[in-house]
Amino acid sequence: MKLIYFSLLGSLLLLSACSQPVGIVPEPVQLTLLSGYYMLDSTTTLVFPNVAEDDDIISYAPDFIHRYFGLSLATVNAQQPGVNPAQSRNAIVFHKTADHNPSLGDEGYSLSVSGDAVYIEANTTAGFVYGLQTLYQLAPADVTAKKTARIPLRAATIVDYPRFEWRGNLLDVSRHFFDVEYIKKHLDVLALYKINKFHWHLTDDHGWRIEIEKYPKLTEIGAWRVDRSSVPWREGLPPQEGEPATYGGYYTKEQIREVVAYAAQRNIEVIPEVEIPGHCSEILAAYPEFACDTFNYYVQIGPYWPPKAIMCGGNDEVIRFFKDVVDEIVPLFPSEYIHIGGDEAVKDNWRACAKCQQRIKSLKLANEEELQSWMILEIEKHVHQYGKRIIGWDEILEGGVSPSATIMFWRGWQGDSVIIKAAERGNEIIMTPTNYCYIDYYQSDPATEKQEAIGGFLPLQKVYSFDPVYENLPPSAAPFIKGGQANLWAEFLFTPEHVEYMLLPRLLALAEGVWSPATGKDWNRFVEKLPAQKKRLAALGYNYCDKIALIADEPKPKTSDDEAGE
Ligand code: ACM
Ligand code: ZN
Repeated sequence: MKLIYFSLLGSLLLLSACSQPVGIVPEPVQLTLLSGYYMLDSTTTLVFPNVAEDDDIISYAPDFIHRYFGLSLATVNAQQPGVNPAQSRNAIVFHKTADHNPSLGDEGYSLSVSGDAVYIEANTTAGFVYGLQTLYQLAPADVTAKKTARIPLRAATIVDYPRFEWRGNLLDVSRHFFDVEYIKKHLDVLALYKINKFHWHLTDDHGWRIEIEKYPKLTEIGAWRVDRSSVPWREGLPPQEGEPATYGGYYTKEQIREVVAYAAQRNIEVIPEVEIPGHCSEILAAYPEFACDTFNYYVQIGPYWPPKAIMCGGNDEVIRFFKDVVDEIVPLFPSEYIHIGGDEAVKDNWRACAKCQQRIKSLKLANEEELQSWMILEIEKHVHQYGKRIIGWDEILEGGVSPSATIMFWRGWQGDSVIIKAAERGNEIIMTPTNYCYIDYYQSDPATEKQEAIGGFLPLQKVYSFDPVYENLPPSAAPFIKGGQANLWAEFLFTPEHVEYMLLPRLLALAEGVWSPATGKDWNRFVEKLPAQKKRLAALGYNYCDKIALIADEPKPKTSDDEAGE
């Protein structure tokens, strides 16, 4: 009697789980849903028939299953003669292709889920990681919160690989600092949606966030500002005489290594950004001798516009400083890239500085833009000595740049011309235009949002319509586009919950733009997939915005009648 009761209950649970819609984000290249399911439970084994013993997947896969499904599974380790993956039953099999399968590339995978087993095939560890992420999305959306003993995984066959190699997210940790615990949670959600680049904006006027041993004042002074967290961002008044700087923080080198390793396990490359030569109030607060003038710089609080702080371009010690910083950063980040900023460098101080003008004269430079280019080239040569390359914001094109620099296009309002210019010079381009990728902008009518944002209007549907290789892009420029990235600047992000609110679900929309085939995109299908995705995010403890804002929802400009009422 008891047995019958249990199996009836089991069937009912199963029916409800299997009737839930399957909606994988980003949409796979080929997806065939089959009837039935594989029942994952504690008797399932993880089989690695031909994976090298030191491959990260051997530790990552059981951790992943434990964390997301609540099950501790036994593993059958690599290279055991006689283990035939095709014959494994009641198992999740990770099979490396014998010969590199060109259609799967470096990050693709194929996944087959049947009543007997789950079979993931990939050329690389990255492919396995993504196969697991997709498998997780074949489970009921609330699986992580419920932790049931038997978990139905929807039967399916999938072949999947990315459209772009650069699928990024920038997080600004200068305007507000987020600790390692949050950064890891952030990386987890990037990995879930197959984002593979974490652009860590580590330095800016509002705080320096990375330990540099040769310049200890960067973190003793540059990482801390006077606490105005109890007032809105726009009301953050400058420090008063004698006020202590207590608000901020930084990452030790040990913590940076921990984050980089955590990201790597999830196929995420961490790209550090150090701003050169502007956006540097926090450096000048710590080392005023690097300024052109004798202004009393402090770590900024609240809005800072125009950002006049700039490192002196005529001071050799400034060049030495950046080279020293590069020397300490390189060993921490295995990435091929260091982002050197280069945006919004207001050059008034350079125009008034005898040393900067002397440098311009002695190097026969045409103007201050060329002085910036010279500085960046000096740093780039140093970066090259390590076999690495620089990325810079699109302003670095203005005074000329070497073709080996990668350009991050952000000034959407500049249109094609900047992109075409970069491509003509042979520079690779990463697309992060404000009008599709600045997810610090409002995602619905500001009047309906509880918390203030920087401005703008970037609804979910607009992010979904983002295509890094957009329709009218000249075909000659297309091969230079490496991919796209959503940027999350943090002036108005006082808490991790609010970071998540701005990120989700717009990150999901971006993910389909940079992973899924252009022909496979479908806004209506994406919207249908959202409820289950939100349920999954809630089960994982993420906050998200619950509105589905459309391009047509853009708030109308105020009329003079409206103004009169204020
Ligand atoms: C930027 O948004 N200033 C790159
Ligand atoms: Zn100067």
